[in-house]
Amino acid sequence: MLISREMVLDKDIGLNAALFGGDMMARMDKVAGIAASLMSRNRRFLTVKVSELLFHSPVRAGEIIEFHIAIARQGNTSLTLQIEVQVYEPVSDQRRDVTSGAFVMVAVDETLHPESILWKPEMIQAATEAHRVRRASQTGQS
Ligand SMILES: CC(C)(COP(=O)(O)OP(=O)(O)OC[C@H]1O[C@@H](n2cnc3c(N)ncnc32)[C@H](O)[C@@H]1OP(=O)(O)O)[C@@H](O)C(=O)NCCC(=O)NCCS
Repeated sequence: MLISREMVLDKDIGLNAALFGGDMMARMDKVAGIAASLMSRNRRFLTVKVSELLFHSPVRAGEIIEFHIAIARQGNTSLTLQIEVQVYEPVSDQRRDVTSGAFVMVAVDETLHPESILWKPEMIQAATEAHRVRRASQTGQS
């Protein structure tokens, strides 16, 4: 499921004329928080774990980045999201993988203790279907 698109600006560029990795991680963490909120009726989530973070290709100023999520695991108080970031080139409609990683988000109450997730089944279904369609288009199947 596409969560957001952003443009990388000159001010975001670090060493090596590319987007700073820590900046990308912060953007992905924000997307994980938004996605967890969209999938549930809980008010607060904390990131407990980030794994398999891979930087596949550098991102340059002026490029549009897309943040796609897939639901990897639904737990009791936690949700694991696979986040894939791609550069989207509108003129050619081409996409390029740039970063991916798994984010474990924990729902917490006002005292920041874990609480059960109140799922929105329709959003889980929509995310699952969007992921299926995206995978099929990547492999050329319908
Ligand atoms: C998130 C936090 C409240 C969880 O507390 P905790 O004592 O580990 O809670 P629990 O042991 O009850 O685990 C809660 C959930 O997290 C999952 N979890 C905890 N540690 C995990 C780990 N290392 N890897 C994967 N999942 C983990 C548990 O499996 C559980 O999920 P489930 O209910 O779906 O099975 C606590 O670790 C914390 O406050 N961490 C700091 C968070 C933070 O500051 N993040 C950065 C800013 S957002």
